[in-house]
Amino acid sequence: MYLGIDAGTSSIKTVLINDEQHIVASASEALELKRPQQGWSEQRPEDWWEATCKTIDTISHSHASDIKQLRGIGLSGQMHGATLLDKQNEIIRPAILWNDVRSGQECKDIEEACPESRTIAGNIAMAGFTAPKLAWLRKHEPENFERIAKVLLPKDYLRFCLSGEYVSDMSDASGTLWLDVGKRQWSDALLSATGLSREHMPTLVEGSEFSGYLHKNLQQRWGITQPVIIAGGGGDNAASACGMGTVSSGNAFISLGTSGVLFVTNQHFLPNTDKAVHAFCHALPNVWHQMGVILSATDSLQWLSSVTGQTVAELSAQVSENITATETIFLPYLGGERTPHNDPHARGAFVGLGHLSTPQSLTQSVMEGVAFAFRDSHEALLETGTDFESALVTGGGARSKAWLTILASVLNRSIEVPENSDVGAALGAARLAICASDNASPVDVCMQPAIKKVVEPNAELVSAYKDSYERFSSLYSKLKR
Ligand code: XUL
Repeated sequence: MYLGIDAGTSSIKTVLINDEQHIVASASEALELKRPQQGWSEQRPEDWWEATCKTIDTISHSHASDIKQLRGIGLSGQMHGATLLDKQNEIIRPAILWNDVRSGQECKDIEEACPESRTIAGNIAMAGFTAPKLAWLRKHEPENFERIAKVLLPKDYLRFCLSGEYVSDMSDASGTLWLDVGKRQWSDALLSATGLSREHMPTLVEGSEFSGYLHKNLQQRWGITQPVIIAGGGGDNAASACGMGTVSSGNAFISLGTSGVLFVTNQHFLPNTDKAVHAFCHALPNVWHQMGVILSATDSLQWLSSVTGQTVAELSAQVSENITATETIFLPYLGGERTPHNDPHARGAFVGLGHLSTPQSLTQSVMEGVAFAFRDSHEALLETGTDFESALVTGGGARSKAWLTILASVLNRSIEVPENSDVGAALGAARLAICASDNASPVDVCMQPAIKKVVEPNAELVSAYKDSYERFSSLYSKLKR
């Protein structure tokens, strides 16, 4: 038996899987997010730990004889969040999360202080990353900055609570902007650009490697008799990739969730900083991955729902698969954009509204606009020679057949829908636990899921969307203030 714990932004989700990788039990606990000021986003690490314990308590009560056989735990979580501990391991302040954009100026400061940062990190300094958050803290909360003994990522704080170890894995560490991503080690030059050193960092392991043992008192609390190994784990996207078998070069997945992700596995480290591509280590040794990140994917539809008073399900149901392209172009930059613009101040737009625009046509435009944003990410990856034939899809947006047809046609690639939607980050984390506990080969453990259906591009839409995409691409720079 193996546990996978995913510390998401909206909930902690824990799954228990058996040796055949079937999910035996799962539990989740909702989390609150605080926005104390415009653009800020924070959570209490204590809440993550409390929620994690609740999920494992629940599973240990309902599946006592299964959890008794627990051999390994894998961790996954929201990336980038700055969790700050002092010398006594006290939490200094609430964690500053991935979707907090307060540190736009500090991104510029870091790149000025370390002109080679893009080459070493393989990534642009983006407000979502951890280092700019620490630079902000150094400037605005110097008394808190002075107290820092360790900076941990969200899932690594849970590891600390579970095992007492300060460890991170390569995939999650890639999103800090302190990692030399090509060499898979901390960079002194990047750390010193934010006034930190290796002392402040956890040690690094690969996601499929051993990182520590579960504390004895927790073993007892959950009725486990043998020692439990904790695997390195992965950032939520790399862990999801393990859950979906996206582990070999050219394998791809699309996450159509609150934010959108186009993820492709690479044999080599392949940065494209000019287009704000995320070039990160994978959670498995000697493999990297690229990501295009769209900040508002289903979130754009959520926004339309809030202004029209219709639910997302009601809006989505009005758009059928048999569509023709709309005239109205939607830019999904409601809260800034990462790939390809890296602009926390970018904002959304509808262009081409007419008397005949309706909630239905606007819903389709939103779906198309998000698909064009994915195409932007695809183009950015193509510039580095990365391509894919088909991509697995996950996330709430995948429930709309129309949206999948639009996406397949805009990208001109097949989209594969897995049979079981439980193929996410928690499963990936549990799989990494199998690798670490049993010394199993990650490629054998991280299998691809059974496919329920394949959505192919629609030839008429492919040609119509070529023109619409050209219009979409020209609008960002024209509307930029
Ligand atoms: C990746 C990113 C998000 C978070 C939250 O760069 O910011 O995917 O990991 O899920």
